[in-house]
Amino acid sequence: MKAAVITKPHGPFEFVDRPIPTPGPGQVVLKTKACGICHTDAVVKDNLWGLPYPRVPGHEVIGAVHAVGAGVKAPFNTVGKVFGVGWVGASCGECTNCVKGFRHKCALRVFTGINTDGGLSEYVLANASALVEIPDGMDPAETAPLLCAGFTMFGALRDYGLQPGSFVGIQGIGGLGSLGISMARNMGFRTVAVSTSDSKKDFALSLGAHHFVSTGAGTGVDQINAATGGNGLDAVIITAPFADAVEALLPAMAFRGVVVIVALLDRKLTIDPGMLLTKSIRIAFEIVGAAHQNKECVQFCGAFGIKPLIERFPFDKVGEAYDRMITNKVRFRSVVVFE
Ligand SMILES: NC(=O)c1ccc[n+]([C@@H]2O[C@H](COP(=O)([O-])OP(=O)(O)OC[C@H]3O[C@@H](n4cnc5c(N)ncnc54)[C@H](OP(=O)(O)O)[C@@H]3O)[C@@H](O)[C@H]2O)c1
Ligand SMILES: [Zn+2]
Ligand SMILES: [Zn+2]
Repeated sequence: MKAAVITKPHGPFEFVDRPIPTPGPGQVVLKTKACGICHTDAVVKDNLWGLPYPRVPGHEVIGAVHAVGAGVKAPFNTVGKVFGVGWVGASCGECTNCVKGFRHKCALRVFTGINTDGGLSEYVLANASALVEIPDGMDPAETAPLLCAGFTMFGALRDYGLQPGSFVGIQGIGGLGSLGISMARNMGFRTVAVSTSDSKKDFALSLGAHHFVSTGAGTGVDQINAATGGNGLDAVIITAPFADAVEALLPAMAFRGVVVIVALLDRKLTIDPGMLLTKSIRIAFEIVGAAHQNKECVQFCGAFGIKPLIERFPFDKVGEAYDRMITNKVRFRSVVVFE
């Protein structure tokens, strides 16, 4: 099989021939159908966490079961059945965090395409505990981005006590943000897209945003106040990986508003505690959850017809797929398609 491997910091994707893996107990091998490119793949590409090479990135994987290891139970042991694999590559179900329900915080800490080889490969070894059931008929390329981009936004929008009609800002319209707009709209929130790119206005409105706020030439705070009738944002989900974006939007928050940061920020935050105190603003960091919740996200998107806007790339163009993402050119998720 062919795999796209990063072998050194900032190095290109290199195609290598490897044997198809053999599944161990509790594992399956998937024949890859599609894999989305996430900004977090920069962790491997740019060696942000100092992890060892070589590594195959990719944690938005859709594939069909090709081989089954010992002890894998139904429905995961059906050859040919399609599953997804997201960021969380394993959870034991037994450690303190797993028992509390936080299986994405499992002590095993196995992240797909980070600690194990991921989906930018013709076949992928996966733990059955990480498999996400995919309803029949969903297009693999359009489903792959739901597994990380979609799922991250799903949790950020669902878990912070927002109410129907809440004013919700989606800051940064990339892979996560574009799906976040569609989700926020379908969850019943008054949705404000906040972007540095004026060229994305029509996209944002077509995805369901009620308002588009440009931060190209300013902070956008006045526009947000106008769009929300002076209320401010009850929540904003920060997807651009820049602390500047967080700091600029704090004055646009409503009383008791929540800033949910999902991006991997480029530096420490500098925040006026007086402003947080006066308006009782909360700051939260949200990380993508585990397989059993990911299924809920996929089902939600299927039920409401939420699909990412994607650009499809053949496997041999994986470098181009990554470059269009990292240079903010892709509209809005690069997906590598294998067949
Ligand atoms: N917490 C989690 O579990 C989790 C999961 C997945 C991803 N992430 C992180 O979330 C962030 C967003 O990921 P993504 O895949 O959505 O990224 P993306 O597709 O690259 O989108 C990021 C957006 O940030 C804005 N941006 C502004 N200036 C930029 C610049 N100089 N370069 C790149 N983008 C710029 C752009 O939106 P505008 O043009 O609209 O300004 C861009 O579309 C990343 O930090 C990623 O690592 C976290
Ligand atoms: Zn991701
Ligand atoms: Zn565990």
